[in-house]
Amino acid sequence: MDKKIIQKPLVSYLDAELKEAAENFSIRHNLRFCTPREIRKSFSSNLIILVTNKGIFLQDLSLKNSKPFDLNFISFREKINNKNLIERCFLKFDKKYRVYDLSAGFCFDAFIISSLGFDVQAYEKESWLFEFTLENLKKDRVKNIKLINKNSLDILKSIQPKSIIYLDPMFGVDNKSFAKKEMHFLRRSLLVDSEDLLEKALNSRAELVVLKKHRLDDLKTEKKPSFKLTGKVVSLNIFDRRN
Ligand SMILES: C[S@@+](CC[C@H](N)C(=O)[O-])C[C@H]1O[C@@H](n2cnc3c(N)ncnc32)[C@H](O)[C@@H]1O
Repeated sequence: MDKKIIQKPLVSYLDAELKEAAENFSIRHNLRFCTPREIRKSFSSNLIILVTNKGIFLQDLSLKNSKPFDLNFISFREKINNKNLIERCFLKFDKKYRVYDLSAGFCFDAFIISSLGFDVQAYEKESWLFEFTLENLKKDRVKNIKLINKNSLDILKSIQPKSIIYLDPMFGVDNKSFAKKEMHFLRRSLLVDSEDLLEKALNSRAELVVLKKHRLDDLKTEKKPSFKLTGKVVSLNIFDRRN
C-alpha cells in the first residue's frame, strides 16, 4: 500500500513585479497561491513553484539548503555516457519508429531518446508540470520532442504498429538515496500512478514497449518481457512484438 503523503505545490514569486504572473499560474493550474511572507510563516517546508523573471523554478523547502531549480538539458546532455541504460536500449531500435513517451514528467528520458535521433511524442497529464517542462525544453532549444498536455491513455488507440511506447511510471519503491532533487519533487507532489498504463500499452498496436521500473518493484503484468537491461537502481523491460 502507498503510504506516501502527497503535497500539491504552492505557487509564489520572489519579485513583487511577478505577483500577478504567479497568481495567474496558480489559477491556470488550480494550485494555491501564497505570498513569500505566507510561505515563511506557515509553509516553510512545502513544495514551491516560483514564478521569476528568469522563468519558472521549483523548490522543495523541506530539503536542507534547498535552492530553486529549473531544468538544464544542456548540462544534462554532458552527463549522459555510453553506460546509460536508455541509450543502450534505444540504440538497438530503428530510428524510423516513432517513440511515444506516455509518462513525460521532466522529459529527461525523452531527451535521451530524442538525442539518439528519434522523434518523440511525450504526454504529461499534470498541467503545471507540462507548462514547466515545456518552458525548459524551449529555453534549451530541444528539438525532436513534442510535449502534449494530455492523459496518454486517451491516445493509445491511435498508436500505429511501427512505434515504441516508453513508460516510466512513478516507482512504488522509495529510495531517497538515488532520488535527485528533480525526481524527489515529483515523488512528493504526484501519486504513484494507479491506472494500469502498462497493461493498456501492451494491448496497443505498438511493436515495442519499454518499461522502466525500479529494480525492486514488481513487473505488474503476467506477460514476460523479451529482454531486460538492469542497472544499479532501475531496469528496462522490453516487450518486443516485432515479427
Ligand atoms: C516518474 S515520472 C516520469 C519521469 C520522466 N521519465 C522523466 O524523465 O522526467 C511519471 C510521470 O508520468 C505522468 N503520468 C502518469 N500517468 C500518466 C498518464 N496516464 N498520462 C500522462 N502522464 C502520466 C505523471 O504525472 C508523472 O509526471
